[in-house]
Amino acid sequence: MSEKKNLRVLSGIQPSGALHLGNYFGMMSRMIKYQEENELFCFIANYHAMTTLPDSDTLKSNTFNAACDFLALGLDPEKSTFWVQSDVPKVTELTWLIASHTSVGLMDRATSYKNKIAQGIKPNMGLFSYPVLMAADILLFDSQIVPVGKDQKQHLEMTRDMAIRFNSVYGDTLIVPEPDIEENTQLIPGIDGQKMSKSYNNTIPLFDTEKKIRKKVMKIVTDTTEIDHPKDKNTPLFNLYSMFLNIDEQKNLSDRYDGTSLRYGDVKQELFELIMDYFGPFREKRESLVSNPMHVYEILKIGAEKASTVADEVLERVRTASGINYQ
Ligand code: TRP
Repeated sequence: MSEKKNLRVLSGIQPSGALHLGNYFGMMSRMIKYQEENELFCFIANYHAMTTLPDSDTLKSNTFNAACDFLALGLDPEKSTFWVQSDVPKVTELTWLIASHTSVGLMDRATSYKNKIAQGIKPNMGLFSYPVLMAADILLFDSQIVPVGKDQKQHLEMTRDMAIRFNSVYGDTLIVPEPDIEENTQLIPGIDGQKMSKSYNNTIPLFDTEKKIRKKVMKIVTDTTEIDHPKDKNTPLFNLYSMFLNIDEQKNLSDRYDGTSLRYGDVKQELFELIMDYFGPFREKRESLVSNPMHVYEILKIGAEKASTVADEVLERVRTASGINYQ
């Protein structure tokens, strides 16, 4: 008998280009860990990416790259179900069924949509319907737990509202998921001290060349405190460095900051070396994946088949409950 895993955990990530330290420590490492004790469903949200990325070549390459990123960072396709969203296109059918029970008032309250428009992104229907597709992603797999960053909290609340509403119309059909929000993601600073984010152009990439990574690390902002004075620890360099240290090592770094001989240049070099050590094995794994796309496609194909088995069952239940199955 196969071992029974605890809960069904699902999350998706948009393929949005070069992965950085903030992505890894904010979401991905946390998500991947779920595969050990739980039934992890993890997918690359390329339909979602399309709402803001109208370039077919970039969408294709970002999708492939995101798959390599996940696999290189330890997502194990044997332990989890890993696929590309569009390989299970039934999710768009569920989107329609849910949309028909979602009030425009609810959608109008979505702050993420408003933020995107404010940034100058064209308000297309995909962008507006983004939360319904996301709800369908979650509900199509009977997900129980959904780990996401803080920025997705409202989308999760909307998903719950949609599921509850659907159930109130047709009887209990959809599983109402619980969010698992990482409140600490903003603690991962970028090289300028703001939250690390691609849109602030302040990231430290994981899979770029050593030279580029070093250059970014060397650019981390520091102050002009004289060498013989204690240094401020509430700073991006200290905080980034600390993420790689255990408690004793953190204490040691803290003592060095309190002392009177610390050079920021040395600390940056150490941090750079730590990053290379930590991600070295992931970088190697990624290179071997990138050079063997057929292998990656095969993994994704098997993942999509596994995901489809669950999706078929849930969608059938929804079609029957709602009268779309007419016989
Ligand atoms: N909207 C999420 C993000 O940008 C990605 C996503 C799409 C997602 N569908 C999902 C996350 C379902 C969790 C569950 O980060």
